[in-house]
Order: sequence, then C-alpha cells, then structure tokens
Amino acid sequence: MIFELVIDILQSSVFRIIILVALSVVLYGALCGPQVHRGYPLIGFDMKDGYSRGLAKAQQQWIANGKDLINQGLAQASFQEFFGSYPGFEPFALDSSSKVVVDTVKGRLTQSLNLIIEELADETDKAVDELFGNPEDWTEITYKPELLKLVSRISSRVFVGPELCENEDWRNISTEYAVAAFVAARTLRQWNFTLRPVVHWFLPECRQLRATLRQARQILKPVIEKRRLENRQRREHGESQSKVADTIGWMDEAAKGKPYDAEVAQIGLSLAAIHTTTEMVSGLISDLCANPEYFEPLREEINLALAGKGWSKKALQDLKLMDSAMKESQRHHLGDIGTHHLLSSLGPPCGNLLTSHLLRLAAMNRMTVSPVTLSDGTQIPKGALTMVDISKMHDASVFPDPHSYKGDRFFQMRHEPGQEQRWQFVSTAPEHLAFGHGKHACPGRFFAANEIRVILIFLLMNYDWKFTAEGRKADKSFGQETDTDPTAKAMIRRRKQRVAL
Ligand code: HEM
Repeated sequence: MIFELVIDILQSSVFRIIILVALSVVLYGALCGPQVHRGYPLIGFDMKDGYSRGLAKAQQQWIANGKDLINQGLAQASFQEFFGSYPGFEPFALDSSSKVVVDTVKGRLTQSLNLIIEELADETDKAVDELFGNPEDWTEITYKPELLKLVSRISSRVFVGPELCENEDWRNISTEYAVAAFVAARTLRQWNFTLRPVVHWFLPECRQLRATLRQARQILKPVIEKRRLENRQRREHGESQSKVADTIGWMDEAAKGKPYDAEVAQIGLSLAAIHTTTEMVSGLISDLCANPEYFEPLREEINLALAGKGWSKKALQDLKLMDSAMKESQRHHLGDIGTHHLLSSLGPPCGNLLTSHLLRLAAMNRMTVSPVTLSDGTQIPKGALTMVDISKMHDASVFPDPHSYKGDRFFQMRHEPGQEQRWQFVSTAPEHLAFGHGKHACPGRFFAANEIRVILIFLLMNYDWKFTAEGRKADKSFGQETDTDPTAKAMIRRRKQRVAL
C-alpha cells in the first residue's frame, strides 16, 4: 500500500515539476553563484562545505578579521553587487545607458560648467531661502534632510531643467530611488544567492523599488519627449543647441544614435550625484561647526573672490581655502571620523573590535573580468571582487595629525613646490581616494566641486552656524557604507551680510 503510494507520488507530474525546479535552482547556483578561488577567503562562504552561511556569519568574520582580509588585498566583505540584471535595479546595470551617463558627465556636463554656474546659483539662492528660512535668533535644524532637498533641487535644475526641478514628486523620487535601491539590495543580499532570482519578485523592498522606478519613468517620459521635440525643431531650423544645461540633449548626443534607456540614464545620473554631494556637504557642515575658527577666513575669501566679479568658474576657482576645507572633510570622514570619536570614548578592547568594524577600510569596488597578475606576481582570478586599501588617507607620514580636521591642510600642502595641482579637491591620488583614482575616477567631481562651492557660499554667507548642546554626532556605518548621521542637529541664525556680488 505504502509502496504503491510512493510509486504514485514519484510518477506524478507535480513531483516531476518540483524535482525540475530544485535541479534548476542547484544548477543556477553552480553556474551563476559566487565562485570559490583557492587561497582567496570569501566572507560569508564556508570553504569546508562550500555553502553560504549568510550575513550574520559574514558580519562576524568581518568584525574579527576585516583588516587582515583587506591587507591581503582580497575583499569581497560585506559589499556585493547591486543586482543590475533584476528589474527595478536597471540604473545599476553596466549597459549602454550607464555608458551614456559617464560619457555625458565626462563630456558636455564638465565642459559646460561656466554655462551652468549661474543656473546653480540662481536655484540655490531661492532654495536656501525656502529651506532654511530667515531666523533672526538661533534656531535648531536637522540639517542633512534639508541639504538633501537642496542638492536634489539644484541638481534637477541642471539635469532635467526648471520644469522638473519645481516638481516635488520628481524631487522626492530622485532621492527616494537611491534609498529604495540600497534597502532592496541589502535585503536581497541576506538571501542565499540561489534563491535571489526568485525571491526578488516577492520581497516587499524589491517590489517597492520597482514601483519607485515605474513612478520615476512616468514623470520623466513626457519631459524627455518634449525636450527631444524642441531639440529636433531647433536643429531643423538650423539653430544651435540649447543655451542652458540640457543633459537630456547631451545624453542623446553621447549615445551617437545607439539605443539606450533615457529614463534609466536620468535616474542613474541622480543616483550618482545627489546623495554623494549631500553627504559631502553634511560632513563639511559638521566639521566647520566642530572647528568654528574656519568660518570667518572662509567668508573673507568668498567676499574677495566674488565681489564685483559675478558667478564664474574662475571666481569659484579662487576659493582655495574652501577647496582645502572640502578635501580635508572628505579625508576626515572616509573611514576616520566616526571611528575615532567613538574609540576614544570606549577605549580597548571595544575599540579594537570596532576599528575593524567601523572603519571604512577600502574603496574602488571592482570585479575582475579576466585574470590579473599584479606587479609583485600576485594573481587575481577572473570573477574576484576586489577593493583598494584607503589607510594612506589617515597615514601620519602623509598627513600629520591625521585624525584631526585641519581645514587649511591642503591649502598649505598646495604651497609646497610642485604640489599646487596635486592637492586640489578634484585631484585624485593613491593617498586620497574619495573620488576613486584612475580611469573610472568619479567623472562628476568637477561639477560637484562647483555645485558644493555655490551651496557653501550661500550657507556660510547667509547664516551663522553652531552645534546644539548635543554637539557632534558620530558617523554611521553599515558594512562598507559610512554616512553622516541624518538626525544630527545644528543651530542657525540669519546673518546681516549676505552674498555680495
Ligand atoms: C562629492 C560628491 C561625489 C563623490 C564623493 C563621488 C564619488 C564617486 C566615487 C567614489 C566613484 C567611484 C570611483 C571608482 O570606483 O573608482 C564615483 C563614480 C561616479 N560618479 Fe561620482 N561622486 C560625487 C559626485 C558626483 C556627481 C555630482 C556626479 C554627476 C554629475 C557623479 C557621477 C559619477 C559617475 C557617472 C560615476 C561612475 C564612473 C564610471 O563608472 O566610470 N558623481 N563617484
């Protein structure tokens, strides 16, 4: 009886389907899952039975052993790719749209900075007034969310024009997509890689991401179509291209007639630009409030650079102390500040544990697409995830007193013979990897440098700043991500002397 029942089950088509699905999942895992390379530790991957033990084990290994792993030049660590082949994650795909974004930022956007600066200043002037108000007495604000709105608004003005920059739905979506993508990717990474191709369809975080992208497409589509029509009509009438920033037209140019997804490209641009810039300004505001002696010299420099000259790339380039204060802030926050403030309050042994946990130790995430042999003979196999150690950014032999914020550090270093170009905000170097280094270093850093300077001019000239009684809040770390605390507060007060041109 039981024997017959078993035979029936084995012969049933439902059972065959279950077996088929199980075999497909195993086969998919074997072919597409992480590959184990001999001698290369893979975090969260048990070398004995070759089975992923999940995020908890990966975190334990990382806390106990993170620095060693990085020092061996091998890091998969808590970083994993952003699932660019799954729906909803399209802006992370390495396809024609992402190439169009990089080419546009490297090309027309950077070449048009002179054209863009007036627009940036005009929008920042209006937006700062609306977001920060006119407080006559010291008033408490939670500055990071306001900075995010500010950066999203002025970036949108340049990227998609005044129409969408006024559109609150677009401003929200252009910032929310990044958050939704990080949350969805983080959730998905907690699932075994063999199940991810299926579970991503059902996970609420991934569904939310797809909905956000759909909504973004709906807002962008008519604007892109309208701009394309205007550009076509202009060409047909023999007129030159738009006199204002037009990343929609510039992307079409960069695509050189090849098909690409213009909506995804616009989301990709916002994704690369908005949170990074917000993070940078938020870090700098906290550094200046913690070191208020820099406020007045920075204001004097702004007055000198701008007075009577108007908004131009040249005037902004004259802000050399500001350039230094910005670069130092990046150095200070990238893998340093949160940890050292926290460590000094905790002391060993907690401190030692946290050093490997909290320090952002590496940057420039890469995956080898073919085997690589380094100059010392080390071989990195195809498909390995690698990162670059950033400890030089806090090395006392390069940057004396490395854990202190010194706003004029790079200003002084630029005065040393032969060092003028090396330590600008936009320069990259193995000792300062905030924008990466080499071929794929951030192409948006020239735009970011100007945008951040314009923002700082309004924030510093129009307001006095200081911390609340709560003081400075340490940065927050999630795996390889380190962010300034979004709940950090400051006091602001309207200044009598405003931006004078
Ligand atoms: C302070 C603000 C910013 C910071 C700290 C920053 C940082 C970075 C970093 C670290 C990378 C990766 C570099 C590498 O892996 O070697 C990167 C790539 C990139 N960034 Fe930025 N970025 C900022 C602003 C911007 C802005 C405003 C834009 C666009 C206007 C932008 C566009 C891009 C693009 C397109 C890439 C990809 C480059 C490639 O794959 O070749 N970034 N950025």
